[in-house]
Amino acid sequence: MATPTSSFFLLPLFFVFLFLLTGSDAVFDVVKFGAKADGSADSARSFLKAWSYACNSRSPATVYVPAGKFFVTQAVFRGPCKNSMIKFLIQGTLVAPSNYGGSGGSDQWIAFSGVNGVSISGGGTLDGGGSRLWACKLAGRSCPSGTSSLTFVNSKNIAVDGLTSIDSKLFHIVVLRCQNVKLSRVNIVASGNSPNTDGIHVQMSTGVDILQANIRTGDDCISVGPGTAHLWIERVFCGPGHGISIGSLGRAQGLQEESVRNVTVKTVTFSGTQNGVRIKTWGTRIQGQVRGVVFEDALMRNVQNPIIIDQNYCPGNKGCPGQSSGIKISQVKYKNIRGTSATPVAVTFDCSPRNPCSGITLQDIKLSYYSQRAQSSCKYANGVASGLNVPPSCL
Ligand SMILES: *[C@@H]1O[C@H](CO)[C@@H](O)[C@H](O)[C@H]1NC(C)=O
Repeated sequence: MATPTSSFFLLPLFFVFLFLLTGSDAVFDVVKFGAKADGSADSARSFLKAWSYACNSRSPATVYVPAGKFFVTQAVFRGPCKNSMIKFLIQGTLVAPSNYGGSGGSDQWIAFSGVNGVSISGGGTLDGGGSRLWACKLAGRSCPSGTSSLTFVNSKNIAVDGLTSIDSKLFHIVVLRCQNVKLSRVNIVASGNSPNTDGIHVQMSTGVDILQANIRTGDDCISVGPGTAHLWIERVFCGPGHGISIGSLGRAQGLQEESVRNVTVKTVTFSGTQNGVRIKTWGTRIQGQVRGVVFEDALMRNVQNPIIIDQNYCPGNKGCPGQSSGIKISQVKYKNIRGTSATPVAVTFDCSPRNPCSGITLQDIKLSYYSQRAQSSCKYANGVASGLNVPPSCL
């Protein structure tokens, strides 16, 4: 007799059979595991079941999400798995709960934890449903911090291609304690006044590439947290948003590693953003360094702070008044940065009196303040300028 339990066990046999028959990878369609493309029935368990089959497969496997809207309360896909070639083929849209109290204190909506060799493709969408939470935060009420839409944690060999993320409650994409991650053709959209909706946040991770991203959001387009090394960002459009930011570093959080090394940001356009390329540290004594950064070929359109190093970040003067940053910034190169500043000071280096910036290079900078001349401002900043420099360098 075909009880639900026996069909549950027969299903994987069927897929194994299909696999042997066709010689192709095993495909686990979430709909076959009970997911409903109606945008309202919770499909989280079906997604997790499909994942467990893919994860336990000894050969490459695909989790398939067909077209349609799938409501998913929360799904954390955990490794380790028995194969290191799992494809998530998403053609539909995953929809998060729009009420924001239900995440049980977790800051993750869709997450991959402890996996090796996972790729996401198919042109699908994650809809974080953040607008009600943003309204709560904007009203200054006491609200939960919310969930990030897509998190990779403690994972390696990850590829995401062609994914769209809209209206996250917190960050759109988070890469935390990962190695070898490639995010390409990611499209991120949230309202320009949505709080804390960073596009991509990278922290404690090595070997992350972000290529061809289109990011319109309410906070940093890309934020780079402590412990990041060998990060490559190329062909990114940013705006609205707060720009591409290394930091904030040096916040009193008990983090061990407060350093960022070897970051390249190349061929980027900023439009109407608060910052262009920024390095930001709290004015606290916490030690660390930012070393080996290249910002190259950037176009600024009406950007408030096109080039900025701010080592005196201390909102509300709480926890750090009068302290100078213990983070040492060195070997930072700005090359071929052009366009318009929305404020008179287009280049700001506000470094730490205790740890002056060193080895700053400016080469071919051409920034104007509408039709007027823009200015540069330097405090405790050392380095050299070459080529064209408009505004004149203050190094
Ligand atoms: C910097 O990182 C890139 C990858 O983003 C890597 O190819 C390069 O070798 C690294 N350079 C150093 C000096 O580590």
